[in-house]
Amino acid sequence: MRESAMELVHDESRQGEVFSDSSTHHRPFQKHFYIESYGCAMNFADSEVIASLLQKEGYGPTPQPEKAQLILINTCSIRDKAEQTIRRRLVALRAIKNRNPAVLIGILGCMAERLKEKLLEQEQLVDLVVGPDAYRTLPSLINSADEGHKAVNVLLSREETYGDIAPFRLNSNGVSAFISIMRGCNNMCSFCVVPFTRGRERSRDLPSILLEARQLVADGYREVTLLGQNVDSYYWVDDATGVTITFARLLEEVALISPLLRVRFSTSHPKDITEEVLQTIKQYPNICRYIHLPVQSGSNRILQLMNRTYTREWYLAKVSRIREVLPECGISTDIIAGFCTETEEDHQQTLDLMDQCDYDLAYMYFYSERPGTLAERRYEDDVPEPVKKRRLQEIIDLHRGQSLRSMQKDVNKTWEVLIEGNSKKSDAHWQGRTTHNKMVVFPKNGISGKGDYVQVLITDCTAGTLMGEQISEPVLNQA
Ligand code: SAH
Ligand code: SF4
Ligand code: F3S
Repeated sequence: MRESAMELVHDESRQGEVFSDSSTHHRPFQKHFYIESYGCAMNFADSEVIASLLQKEGYGPTPQPEKAQLILINTCSIRDKAEQTIRRRLVALRAIKNRNPAVLIGILGCMAERLKEKLLEQEQLVDLVVGPDAYRTLPSLINSADEGHKAVNVLLSREETYGDIAPFRLNSNGVSAFISIMRGCNNMCSFCVVPFTRGRERSRDLPSILLEARQLVADGYREVTLLGQNVDSYYWVDDATGVTITFARLLEEVALISPLLRVRFSTSHPKDITEEVLQTIKQYPNICRYIHLPVQSGSNRILQLMNRTYTREWYLAKVSRIREVLPECGISTDIIAGFCTETEEDHQQTLDLMDQCDYDLAYMYFYSERPGTLAERRYEDDVPEPVKKRRLQEIIDLHRGQSLRSMQKDVNKTWEVLIEGNSKKSDAHWQGRTTHNKMVVFPKNGISGKGDYVQVLITDCTAGTLMGEQISEPVLNQA
C-alpha cells in the first residue's frame, strides 16, 4: 500500500506493513495483538519495542487482525496522504470491532501525537491513543480502556530512549535489523512535523546500543542500521568516565564488534556529517559505503525558507568531499518539489543540483503542508498542485536516468554481497545487497546460505536491481 506512485517513487517510508512471521508462534499466548506500521524506519523500530512490551504482558503477535484482542496502528504524519491512508485503514479495522466490541483499537506514533484526544473524542475512531514516548504505559492504558475509560498518553519526554528494552523482531529476515540510537529532532526544518510529533532530540546510551548489536550478532544477524532523524548529532557522555561519545566513535564501536557485521546508518543531515565520520567509514570496511544525505532543494532561497541551514554550495562541497574520501560511496537524497513560493528558476536549480550530484537513489515528494509547522504559520502554500506534480515528475524523470546509469556502472564489476534470503520472484535465486545498498539477485549454487558473504560478478541490471553470478566460495555465517 503506497501513498501514490506519483508521490513516492523509491519510498523509504514503508506503508502498512504487518507482522507476518508465524515461525515465532512457538510460545502459546492467551491474548494476541496485531500491529500495522507506517512511516519511517524509526516507526518500524518502535513497533518492535512495543511488541516486546506487549509480550511481557502475555500478548503474542498475530498477522490476522480478526484473531487479535488488541489492534494497533503505528502511524506517520509526515504528509497528508500518509494520514489519509491510515484513516481509511482505521475505518476498515473498525468493522472488526463492530463485530466484536471487546476488541481494543489503538493508534500509536506520530499521528497519535499530532491529533491527541481528538481521535478519541471528536472522531471516536479508537480506544487508545499513545504517543511515541509513552509506550511504557501501554499496559496500564490497555487496562483503562478495557474498563471503558479514556486511554490517552501523548506526553513527550526529554529522556526516553527505550534503551533497556530488547526489541522483539517483527518481519525480520534474520540477517538485518534496525537499532535506534536516538529519538526526536532539534532541527526546525520549516516543512517538517517530526519535531512536534517526536519531541526533543536525545541520544541512547552507548552500552545498551552495543549490547543490542552484540546480541544480534550472537543471534546470527549480519547487518545493523543505526537509526535517528539526525544521526550525526548523536552525543552521549559516560558519567562514570566523563568520556564523550560522538557519532563517529559510536560507528567505530559498533564496527569493532565483528568484521562480519555490516554497519549502516540513517539519516545524515548535510550540516552535521563530519570529516571524522567519513574517516571512520574509510577505516572500517564493514561500515557500508552508502550515505543518505537529503538535500530537499537545490535553490538557496528555498533552502533558507526551509530552514535547512546550509547552502547549495555547502551541500555540493560535502558531496565532493564524500567522493574524495570514499570514491565508491553510494549517495542518496530526499527532494521536495513545490515548496512555498518555489519558482521555475528554483525548480531548475534543483534539477541542476541533481545533475551535479548524480545520485544513486532519491526519495521524491511534492510538498504537503502540515498543520503547526513553521511553514504553515509563516508562508503560503502557493504552488498549485498541478505545478507541484509536474515538477515532481520532472525530478522523477531525471532521477530515473541517474539511477539506471548508477546500476549500469556496476555491470562487469565484482561486489561482495550479503545474502538476505530468497529472491522475491524465485526460490532458485538469492537476493542480497552490496555495501552501496544495491539489491543483487543471483542463482543459488547449493553451497551458500542466508547471512553468508559472497563475491558476485554483475552481469546485467534494471533500474532497481543488479543481476549476477556468484564467483567465490562463501565466507560463512559464523562471526
Ligand atoms: N530527518 C530526515 C528526514 C525525515 S522525513 C532529514 O532531515 O533528512 C523524510 C523526508 O520526508 C524528508 O527528508 C522530506 O524530503 C520529506 N518530507 C518531510 N516533510 C514533508 C512535507 N511536509 N511535505 C513533503 N515531504 C516532506
Ligand atoms: Fe524533519 Fe528536519 Fe528534523 Fe529531518 S532534520 S526530522 S526534516 S526537522
Ligand atoms: Fe512519519 Fe513520524 Fe517517521 S511523521 S516519517 S513516522 S518520525
